Amino acid sequence: MAGEVKDAKLAAKGKTRIEWANQWMPVLQLSRMRFVKERPLEGVRISACLHVTTETANLAITLRDGGAEVVVCGSNPLSTQDDVAASLVEDSHIPVFAIKSEDKNTYYSHIVSALDHHPQITMDDGADLVTTILKKRQELVAGIIGGTEETTTGVIRLRSMAKNGVLKYPIISVNDADTKHLFDNRYGTGQSTLDGIIRSTNLLLAGLNVIISGYGWCGRGVASRARGHGAHVIITEINPTRALEAVMDGFRVLPMSEAAKIGDIFITVSGNKSVITGEHFKVMKEGAVVANSGHFNVEIDIPALEKMALSKRQTREFVDEYTLREGRKIYLLGEGRLINLAAAEGHPAAVMDMSFSNQALSVDYVVKNAKKLEPKVYPVPAEIDQSVARLKLEALGIGIDKLSRDQEEYLAGWAEGT
Ligand SMILES: NC(=O)c1ccc[n+]([C@@H]2O[C@H](COP(=O)([O-])OP(=O)(O)OC[C@H]3O[C@@H](n4cnc5c(N)ncnc54)[C@H](O)[C@@H]3O)[C@@H](O)[C@H]2O)c1
Repeated sequence: MAGEVKDAKLAAKGKTRIEWANQWMPVLQLSRMRFVKERPLEGVRISACLHVTTETANLAITLRDGGAEVVVCGSNPLSTQDDVAASLVEDSHIPVFAIKSEDKNTYYSHIVSALDHHPQITMDDGADLVTTILKKRQELVAGIIGGTEETTTGVIRLRSMAKNGVLKYPIISVNDADTKHLFDNRYGTGQSTLDGIIRSTNLLLAGLNVIISGYGWCGRGVASRARGHGAHVIITEINPTRALEAVMDGFRVLPMSEAAKIGDIFITVSGNKSVITGEHFKVMKEGAVVANSGHFNVEIDIPALEKMALSKRQTREFVDEYTLREGRKIYLLGEGRLINLAAAEGHPAAVMDMSFSNQALSVDYVVKNAKKLEPKVYPVPAEIDQSVARLKLEALGIGIDKLSRDQEEYLAGWAEGT
């Protein structure tokens, strides 16, 4: 299996970028050193459907160094870094099926190619591998011992499969590890989403009304970073507790019908569909910019925008200008796909260090515990989650206090008090 990438000649550029990311992934490096020595994944076939970035390359290399036979495909048609894909194939001999801007059919044919590897472990970011196996490749199930899932939307899909009794093998929900979503979703998405918007538009955020839909882990991060740029941040939510949290964090909260009239930039990060619809486009200001950082490109009703527009043209890379009947213009970024991966480089390596350490250690865990696991969605074991936090602190040179015996007894007991 050789894979399918855009251009093998891009490998040299990809290699130096992969090495750069590696420097900021000290916790993953520790797993890699252990994997090289112990080879815990010897001969295990892994199909990984992940955004093909420099950080993913370091994860794939770590798994390979643990003895695994790894094949990678992209988890979004726009997120692949072609130089990284080329280097994985040419320098690391890891087959990759991914090309930036591939069409939907190619995207799904690449998923099928990754499944032709007959994986024993699937590694997903959005559950496309598991979904394809269940819909089209059920014969593979017998050979699979387990899988992992990287993102909120994938975990939601998998929990729904488990609830409906169609999930056929155990999955570790990497997203639910504290050392994943508290950092990756919040600080990673927070920074990289704005990075994608700024790189594609070069807009000054200071003084603009930035509407953020969804005040979950990603939304909180994007909101705090946008506030740091001097934007007036407004949150839309459907969950009263999250909305209240946004209010007490000092943000204005409005229903989308109101926010739509005053927003300069709209960012959806809800994991839901049709958050911005034709009704909202109708009342948006001239020049409103609309972007998504949630997993799928369904948060913005793009077919409605297409229908309302008289014309469409690309004004900058990743910026489509839609001119509506009355002459008003709306700008859609990155075709409504994850803007941080489409127009920027995704999360910084320092945060993916934690997410992907959880991935590598969860795969090791599944291989060791395969016989005990049932077709359910499992959390990352607490020991793994805590060890990732401990090692990250150590790598940052930060010490913390230890419980004394006396304190341990105090916390465990009930008799002491006034
Ligand atoms: N861009 C990235 O790199 C990246 C990284 C991590 C996660 N994600 C994706 O981002 C999305 C959000 O992830 P999360 O971890 O923040 O999830 P979360 O569950 O913590 O938060 C989602 C929030 O959106 C709210 N919401 C749902 N429907 C809404 C609607 N119609 N209007 C307004 N708010 C609504 C929910 O109430 C919730 O508070 C998911 O699709 C996830 O897979 C993207």
